[in-house]
Amino acid sequence: MKILLVAGARPNFMKVAPLVEALRSAQADHPDLEILLVHTGQHYDERMSRAFFTDLDLPRPDVDLEVGSGTHAEQTGRVMIAFEALLFERKPDWVVVVGDVNSTVACALAAKKLCIKVAHVEAGLRSRDWTMPEEVNRVVTDVLCDALFTTDTLASENLIGEGIERSKIHFVGNVMIDTLLKHSERAAALRQWEQLGLQPRRYGVLTLHRPGNVDLPEVFAGIVNALEAVQQFLPLAFPVHPRTRRMAETFGLWQRMEAMPNLRLLEPLGYLEMLSLTAASALILTDSGGLQEEAVVLGVPCITLRPNTERPITISVGANQLVGNDPEEIVAAVRARVAAGGNSFRRPDKWDGQAARRIAQILLDS
Ligand code: UD1
Repeated sequence: MKILLVAGARPNFMKVAPLVEALRSAQADHPDLEILLVHTGQHYDERMSRAFFTDLDLPRPDVDLEVGSGTHAEQTGRVMIAFEALLFERKPDWVVVVGDVNSTVACALAAKKLCIKVAHVEAGLRSRDWTMPEEVNRVVTDVLCDALFTTDTLASENLIGEGIERSKIHFVGNVMIDTLLKHSERAAALRQWEQLGLQPRRYGVLTLHRPGNVDLPEVFAGIVNALEAVQQFLPLAFPVHPRTRRMAETFGLWQRMEAMPNLRLLEPLGYLEMLSLTAASALILTDSGGLQEEAVVLGVPCITLRPNTERPITISVGANQLVGNDPEEIVAAVRARVAAGGNSFRRPDKWDGQAARRIAQILLDS
């Protein structure tokens, strides 16, 4: 059996790493199992891509399609063309895609049209917000797939509600949490907060990159106003995504942020550096998807700067709160969360470090 795994963008790498590991260890009992790791090249910067391969002990990809950035159609189209050629050449039995980035949907579509079986890891998440490119990617990918691996039962129910055959849906848990649990000791030893002159549990970690927050000058400026107020009572560490930095510079907001004494503007961080920082923080302030889930397991409250989430389980366990991007609401929510103090949250079922092993078993039994 030949299994081809696809990774394209930063949030994919920590999901693919445990799958590679689980499949590699299954090779002992399945000598005919061949694993191919393909990087589409959607993310390509040292800090957005290569650093993660080092941190996560991921093997160098067998193939890098080097598609790079572009508009959605350009990027998706380039991945499809390059990936189809690779499929003709390598003829895998399964293509495994993860998450919801443009590379996810592009590879699923190319494979399905060649009648190659496709599996989606992290299937069934829904924000119901069709203005998010990731929602389009999630729905289209899921409808094409032969095996859908879900992180929680809400996601499985979404798929059943959309008419996906039950036999294709497998509730296996969360591969991203496999990675977090595996690396948390190594990350803690880095004491990343110390290097920034911060005290454990006395700072927040901020990430921001959604087009809905950073592409419109008045919205981004409102968030910067909120940050100005927040950093006065809670120091913030802010690893800045390349597109966010570019937008901040274009809108004249970068200098304003640089002038804030307790806002630490950082280059994008590696996996371990970021985990070290979030694990010791008092609060996560983000528009990312994955951080909302990591917050649950880290026991760090999360305030999400979005009007909706595809990960509602993070809210139901009490870890996450949706605040949107209104400046006053952001400041009020942060103040209230900081005043409320520490937390630990119920960990969802099967977020136990074994998700990738379950997936490998199901693929090998197929
Ligand atoms: C992508 C995903 C998003 C995910 C995010 C995490 C889609 C639709 N979006 O968004 O779901 O949360 O990754 O980072 O797939 N850039 C660089 N270096 C890089 C990659 C990108 O500088 O290595 C810059 C380029 O200017 C590029 C821009 O970031 O145009 C956007 O990159 P892109 O891959 O299109 O989407 P992300 O915003 O990173």
